[in-house]
Amino acid sequence: MLELIKRCPEYVCGYREYCQEAFDHNIIYFRPTDPKLIDGEWFSRTKNLYDKKETGQIRPISFHFWAVDGEKFIGEFQLRTELTQEVMNGIGSIGYAVRVSEQGKGYGTEILKQGFRIVKEHGMDKVLMNINDENLVSAHICEKLGGKLMDKIQSYNDAEGHHMMRRYWIYL
Ligand SMILES: CC(C)(COP(=O)(O)OP(=O)(O)OC[C@H]1O[C@@H](n2cnc3c(N)ncnc32)[C@H](O)[C@@H]1OP(=O)(O)O)[C@@H](O)C(=O)NCCC(=O)NCCS
Repeated sequence: MLELIKRCPEYVCGYREYCQEAFDHNIIYFRPTDPKLIDGEWFSRTKNLYDKKETGQIRPISFHFWAVDGEKFIGEFQLRTELTQEVMNGIGSIGYAVRVSEQGKGYGTEILKQGFRIVKEHGMDKVLMNINDENLVSAHICEKLGGKLMDKIQSYNDAEGHHMMRRYWIYL
């Protein structure tokens, strides 16, 4: 059964495998950590960084969860609770991904469903999902879960380059 959990040392090996799969397959729509950086000290070295993201010392405020199914590492879910310029015109309120070897089994849909519960716990009633116009799988899941297309704008980031991006609101 899929669960969203806080980052924790027990799943670091699984997280590294997930990152490695994303790099091996050149996944551009969501770039996880470079697996080469994930060594034995990586969790303790980065803990402070993630704490700062949650407390707003690094903006936008963001919360990072790992998706696991028993001992298996499945993917991740990120929530940004502020609608900053970067969120509105780039990264959106939600980031999520499923490891390549586990895609197409319903996990992506389930991560978002469970993630929306976390969104509500933060007192939010809507989220913005920004999706590359060519990412048809994510756009399909977003629309299936009630996403309403607001517009399409030009966007840029290092991984995706210049691209058209769909902006969807999901009202919860
Ligand atoms: C997007 C992502 C998280 C989806 O995860 P997943 O576990 O494969 O998703 P699911 O199995 O829950 O659902 C896939 C859906 O896409 C549909 N689908 C598959 N290929 C499709 C296509 N070419 N066009 C449209 N829909 C498609 C499937 O039929 C399924 O929908 P259904 O449940 O209504 O039948 C995963 O592909 C991923 O990690 N991609 C890379 C990172 C990414 O794009 N993150 C999102 C950034 S906005």
